[in-house]
Amino acid sequence: MTRITLRELLDHAGEHGYGLPAFNVNNMEQIIAILRAARAVESPAILQVSRGARSYAGDAMVRALMGAAEEMFPDVPLCVHQDHGNSFDTCRSAIDQDYTSVMMDGSLREDATTPTTYDENLAVTLQVVEYAHARGVSVEGELGVLGRLDTGRGEQEDGHGATGTLDRSQLLTDPDQAVDFVERTQVDALAIAMGTSHGAYKFSERPDSSVLDMDVVKQINQRLPDLHLVMHGSSSVPQELQDVFNQYGGDLPQTYGVPVEEIQEGIRHGVRKVNIDTDTRLAMTGAMRRLAQTDRKEFDPRKWMAPAMEALTTLCRSRYEQFGSAGMAPRLSPRPLAEMAARYASGELAHRPAD
Ligand code: G3H
Ligand code: 13P
Ligand code: ZN
Repeated sequence: MTRITLRELLDHAGEHGYGLPAFNVNNMEQIIAILRAARAVESPAILQVSRGARSYAGDAMVRALMGAAEEMFPDVPLCVHQDHGNSFDTCRSAIDQDYTSVMMDGSLREDATTPTTYDENLAVTLQVVEYAHARGVSVEGELGVLGRLDTGRGEQEDGHGATGTLDRSQLLTDPDQAVDFVERTQVDALAIAMGTSHGAYKFSERPDSSVLDMDVVKQINQRLPDLHLVMHGSSSVPQELQDVFNQYGGDLPQTYGVPVEEIQEGIRHGVRKVNIDTDTRLAMTGAMRRLAQTDRKEFDPRKWMAPAMEALTTLCRSRYEQFGSAGMAPRLSPRPLAEMAARYASGELAHRPAD
């Protein structure tokens, strides 16, 4: 059994000063490619499943794939995480299907587009924490709304993310509120708003401190040194992946993501989970585009998938190495969920702010 909770992974990462990429998955090829990378560099892995992924593949298929992944990669401690849960029911159904971690994104209402009030966020997050911790499962909360600081626009794309224009106070997590939120909800990890946004179009030039606010991370880390921070929207959108995509018939306007060095700076200040989806999509579809143009007779989908998986494995390997999780897998021994539940009940895992 290799399944591990997010809390155990991030506590280990906090103790040893590294970060973990959390990759979104939707299908067999992504799961295998990511876990090949994890196995090659001896990193634990977080595979996260969005609501979109659950409806694309179907819950039964996701469950079967994760079971197969454990069997194929017994040496990779694996956290199966619900990404951007929009309601108690979404999180409960993930927990009931053996996910070891859920995100309750209470920054938005159930429609996943309207920002909540602070009290609404608190109430739904608390409800999820109570259900999850009683079962030993970890919870990630979110405070602040993701969106671009330069335009003030929410990041509505593909039916999720805030709509309309938001003010700076909504787009940046308030450190005082973060302390209160964590004390009251006892989430295991907190996703923060600091100028990152989902998708490929994050910044129109390489980001500086006016559009990517690392001070938010530093201030929260000072107040809550043991809290595990999560950076969403943290694809780097590497130039080489954009170039491959465009060289083989793609039409992606020039864009900029979150530089790896900025993520590494975050990791030095309490960031422990780094969410990446866009880069994995680009790596795969770029490789497929290349195959489509260089071997125009090929119609076996496996021949398209093999280089796509290779490109994804290469990307993931780099992130495991760059964030410092490579080599950590053998140092982890997953605890049974019942033991985690007992640790929550005893107060051993409670977060308390620094004096
Ligand atoms: O949070 C955003 C992730 O990139 C998941 O995207 O909802 O299209 O699966 P998705
Ligand atoms: P990217 O779109 O930057 O890859 O972010 C993914 C993410 O935050 C998933 O929750
Ligand atoms: Zn996200």
